[in-house]
Amino acid sequence: MREKLLIVDDERMILELTSMVLTSRGFDVSVVDNAPDSYALIEREQPALVLLDYMMPKVNGLDALKEIRTRFPETYVIMFTGKGSEEIAVELMKAGASDYILKPFSNAKLVERIENILRIRSIELHNRELILEKERLLDEIERWNRELEERVEEKTAELERAHHEILLTEKLAALGHLSAGMAHEIRNPLNSISLFAQVICTGLENEPEMQSYSDKIISETERIDAILVKLLSTSKRSPFQLRTIYIADVIEKSLQPFLEQIQAQEIVLQKQLLQTPSILADADELGLVFSNLFSNALFEMKQGGTLSVTLVHDDKDVVVTVSDTGGGILEDHLNEIFDPFFTTKERGTGFGLSVVLRIVKTYSGRINVESEPGKGTTFQIWLPLA
Ligand SMILES: Nc1ncnc2c1ncn2[C@@H]1O[C@H](COP(=O)(O)OP(=O)(O)OP(=O)(O)O)[C@@H](O)[C@H]1O
Ligand SMILES: [Mg+2]
Repeated sequence: MREKLLIVDDERMILELTSMVLTSRGFDVSVVDNAPDSYALIEREQPALVLLDYMMPKVNGLDALKEIRTRFPETYVIMFTGKGSEEIAVELMKAGASDYILKPFSNAKLVERIENILRIRSIELHNRELILEKERLLDEIERWNRELEERVEEKTAELERAHHEILLTEKLAALGHLSAGMAHEIRNPLNSISLFAQVICTGLENEPEMQSYSDKIISETERIDAILVKLLSTSKRSPFQLRTIYIADVIEKSLQPFLEQIQAQEIVLQKQLLQTPSILADADELGLVFSNLFSNALFEMKQGGTLSVTLVHDDKDVVVTVSDTGGGILEDHLNEIFDPFFTTKERGTGFGLSVVLRIVKTYSGRINVESEPGKGTTFQIWLPLA
């Protein structure tokens, strides 16, 4: 390919002669006799090299040089200068000239200088390309690294979740074993205590104080029994019947017992239950999921708030969201709330959410919780349609 050169000089003679010489040496040469006209030409032709005269009327060679170097960094410039202007030459080199040639010059010298600068230019441009390529590659590597890190983080979180779930399942299984035996052993004598207390009670009609004591015994045994029942349900499935049910109905039914409390605590109930396909499940069992979530949410909103319940579905799952505007859950606790026995309540058993989790798992669903302390908590449950 013939290299493109542009000669900018106000002397016609020089333009013609130099152009002739350089063309005969195989260059593709254009000429122009003033600097201002050269810019458009450079823009259009993109010459590799400009031979620029320093002494020209109208525009000073130094300014023209600067203009060309800033606007067209890939076009290199060799300056023509008059004799005795070495100081100027230094200035020109500083301003971006690649070389300077003192007038008058010999043709051989001119060609030699031009070829030299073109070689340097080609190496420099190639270098620049390599540097750009290197930067691009480094960017890409960095992007890969970032992606990799993100993936590792994701996977680690996933593993941690899975690990936590396995621990939880083991815990629930062990608990199931223990509680089934224990409940059986305890409930019989408990029943006897309750019966005897009732017998005593009927004999104490004239002693109200004693009667109130035995009433206490009865109600406390009932409380123990309720805890045992709850403990059992955290780990063991009670007899169940699968039927075609609509989740919206289950939610409505689970809400019923809380309506009075909702009103008493001046809570705004926002319900948006869209029609969803039916699923096969035990309605009472599934109801426990929602009543535990409602009970926890209402506990957190004693001074009022908003309880939102939404039900939607996509092509795979039914999705239920239960949100409250209560005190929220501390980040440190988020990993523990599904553990049996984990409670922050004075009279809580800590079984509620383990029951929820067990049932959701039973139906191959999943549950997620998001909470902001001081703002509220959102539980989301996905239950597969199929
Ligand atoms: N909506 C909620 N807002 C804030 N904290 C919650 C919420 N739901 C659960 N928690 C936290 O999770 C803990 C465990 O809940 P879980 O239902 O398992 O047990 P509990 O409510 O403490 O006891 P129980 O359900 O037996 O009455 C609660 O003690 C509470 O700290
Ligand atoms: Mg609870």
